[in-house]
Amino acid sequence: MGDPNNELRTPFEEEVHSAFDRRGFLQRSAAGLAGLALSVRVSGGGNASAQTPGEEILGAAGVKTADRSKRLWEAVSDRKIRVGIAGFGVCQFGAAFGFQNHPNVTVAAVTDLIPDRCAGLAKACRCDTTYPSLEAMIGDDSLEAIFVATDAPRHARHCVAALKRGKHVACAVPAVFGSVDEAHELLSAVKTSGRKYMLFETSAFHAENHAMRQIYRAGGFGKLVYSEGEYYHYMAEPIDSYEGWRVGLPPQFYPTHSNAYYVAVTGGRFTEVSCMGMPSVIPHLQKENNRYRNPFGTEIALFRTSEGGMARMAVSWDSPGFEGEVGRVRGQRGSMTGMAYQGSLSPLPLLEPPPLPPGVDPGGHGGSHGQLMNEFVTAILQDREPLIDVVQALNLTVSGIIAHQSALRDGELLKIPAFNRG
Ligand SMILES: NC(=O)c1ccc[n+]([C@@H]2O[C@H](COP(=O)([O-])OP(=O)(O)OC[C@H]3O[C@@H](n4cnc5c(N)ncnc54)[C@H](O)[C@@H]3O)[C@@H](O)[C@H]2O)c1
Repeated sequence: MGDPNNELRTPFEEEVHSAFDRRGFLQRSAAGLAGLALSVRVSGGGNASAQTPGEEILGAAGVKTADRSKRLWEAVSDRKIRVGIAGFGVCQFGAAFGFQNHPNVTVAAVTDLIPDRCAGLAKACRCDTTYPSLEAMIGDDSLEAIFVATDAPRHARHCVAALKRGKHVACAVPAVFGSVDEAHELLSAVKTSGRKYMLFETSAFHAENHAMRQIYRAGGFGKLVYSEGEYYHYMAEPIDSYEGWRVGLPPQFYPTHSNAYYVAVTGGRFTEVSCMGMPSVIPHLQKENNRYRNPFGTEIALFRTSEGGMARMAVSWDSPGFEGEVGRVRGQRGSMTGMAYQGSLSPLPLLEPPPLPPGVDPGGHGGSHGQLMNEFVTAILQDREPLIDVVQALNLTVSGIIAHQSALRDGELLKIPAFNRG
């Protein structure tokens, strides 16, 4: 059967399609919906113990970095956006997404409260203009967009402040930190400002998550009956963080990497949750030893989805072993684990992530960094909503906040507030 995307296929995609053709044609008629197996594994596991803490969380090592697309990137505009970047903490995230290498971007200012970090960020971004704080930087009227890579507890307040100054905003995860009120404030600030907001949720551009989204949109799963997402990151000692926000961090305050295996695949949301935790043996995860009064190092949430299905989302800091962000989905017409699709959709849509500009690397966390940055920049240039807009960002984040409340109440089923675009 002719595939209009044939000429655009990369070797990776060719492998997917030929596996499909080889096995699929024979099995399809006999086995119907259950017949097809595509065994193309591209993900890798990590040995975080061999890495320094910064590398471990940055995903620079031990996590698969996607190959570049062989397709040609085409500029949608010759305009340059003046971007300001805030935050060069332990993960050095301000420089990690490649804004400084995008042909449509000038990194026109940077900031970190700590002078050495501010200088480091300026050097990494080849930028001469620095400000002592985000609050000072957003007063610069020449800046059109801000990337907020500060500590998680300050994300919402920093994003709201930048939106109120008329800036487009991209933000590292999570969108808000433990507060539903902050979520409403952020949504309101985005709507009032009319500016773009995008959450840089890295799982959304893992190769398999991107592929799942394309297959979902093409109808290859139908409704998702069940999905699973996992974020496993062993922290016997908390990784360094600004004013210690990672000490005793409730696992479901950091839910977006796992929740992306439903929300970023379907664009849907969670409506209610029952979550359970187990008292941790790790000292900083015991409630008398942290500011959150959090007793859990692992929280397992069972969500009802907006399609009426179920999702089991796990975040764990206190179980050594495999580390990373992974997930799988099972739908009415097909299922997918890793890059293995089993289902009735034929031919498959183009599964490869979009091409990136020359000089922009896919980067860490499964090759997601460059994709997220390019999506944000392109959305501004095309005046359209970015992939993970504020509604999706809050659906990813607030569901975890409610899950933690449920865990504190021993799994009580709790409703999750809805956030709407209208
Ligand atoms: N996979 C992922 O998506 C992923 C991975 C790692 C980190 N992150 C997120 O990236 C963010 C940064 O992580 P980190 O570990 O580097 O954080 P961190 O706590 O080590 O550092 C935060 C930095 O922000 C700076 N800062 C705080 N307030 C500021 C202000 N008003 N103006 C200027 N600078 C200010 C601090 O000086 C500090 O250097 C976090 O929110 C984290 O959740 C996401």
